[in-house]
Amino acid sequence: MSTVRKIQSGYYAVGAIDWDRRLFDELIPLPDGTSYNAYLVQGSEKTALMDTVDPAMTHVLLQNLEQLQVKKIDYVVTHHAEQDHSGALPRILEEYPEAIVVCTSKCRDMIIDLLAIPEDRIRTVDDGETLSLGDKTMQFIHTPWVHWPETMVTYIPEDRMLFTCDFFGSHLATSDLYVTDEGIVYEAAKRYYAEIMMPFRKIIQKNLAKLQPLDIRLIAPSHGPMYDKPEFIVNAYKDWVSDAVKNEVVLPYVSMHESTRKMVEHFVGALITRGIGVKQFNLADADIGKLAIALVDTATIVLGTPTVQVGPHPKAVYAAYLANALRPKVRFASVIGSYGWSTKMVEQIAGMLSNLQIQVLEPVVAKGLPKSEDFQALDRLADQIAAKHREIGLFM
Ligand code: FEO
Repeated sequence: MSTVRKIQSGYYAVGAIDWDRRLFDELIPLPDGTSYNAYLVQGSEKTALMDTVDPAMTHVLLQNLEQLQVKKIDYVVTHHAEQDHSGALPRILEEYPEAIVVCTSKCRDMIIDLLAIPEDRIRTVDDGETLSLGDKTMQFIHTPWVHWPETMVTYIPEDRMLFTCDFFGSHLATSDLYVTDEGIVYEAAKRYYAEIMMPFRKIIQKNLAKLQPLDIRLIAPSHGPMYDKPEFIVNAYKDWVSDAVKNEVVLPYVSMHESTRKMVEHFVGALITRGIGVKQFNLADADIGKLAIALVDTATIVLGTPTVQVGPHPKAVYAAYLANALRPKVRFASVIGSYGWSTKMVEQIAGMLSNLQIQVLEPVVAKGLPKSEDFQALDRLADQIAAKHREIGLFM
């Protein structure tokens, strides 16, 4: 099956759509599949391939190149060493013996380590360096941590095209070449940002500033559709990486025998009546991608958990570990939950959030079923959150 699509004269989408993939890194849910976009750029003198595809889809890329009757590739621009984009490199270099890989020096070391690419097939480029294809110029801009430290993007000024690999990407399997439904792409792109780039928010702010002077007509990422209205995704990223947070509480919880669930139910009502938005996730079967999205701009996270063997429930541990690893810009945190005879879950969860610059608010822990004093304590916690949110100007 060929998936070649012409973008415009000299530009073709030659990547693969993975409709069936449901997990990335055996961890990240992909409810809508994904795509591994690769692009062929034909200049008047030379031809470049922008990234390759996941190893499992190598045959699709080769078929697409065959359909276009590509006899020679001069450069394979490798923006990122991760295998979903560079995994087909060894096969492409075998098929096109004159092709040279173009990448950052950090990426060179990584593709030698990860894919055994011969060093003499690699040309490294500095930040800002250019390479001519004849009537098109590739300008390479180093953009570390989108998603690994070796990443870069390529700008072609003659056509105002920007190739960005993971940066601005979305895990979305679609035959649409361009964004057609901004709502769907917004959520998929935010999920992707949350899961792989959020920990590097401050560096991504700098990368966005580096791209600011470019006159961009089209952004071509390596997952999901292309952006023919670049400001849509650039503005979304500016919002996500900003220091602004929302008047919202994200509440991941798990309950075994209803005590914690009753507390969550009361607490959510208390927050809503105080004018605070809530996003509640039952960790028994939550999509952790949706939880990650919610963490992007919430002001507060409150974890709900019963006690298991003196500590938090393992699913609450997972949520705390995830929040700590993703480093959202959250400002306040607390714990609510229950225990039967003894608990150290609050201390243990607090110890797991060491990456976050948060103020910890008074936790509420009930012995067994919550009683009136526990519900009053939940009301006080809701009052405190409302006061903190007012203090930082989130509402009047
Ligand atoms: Fe799509 Fe970091 O690879």
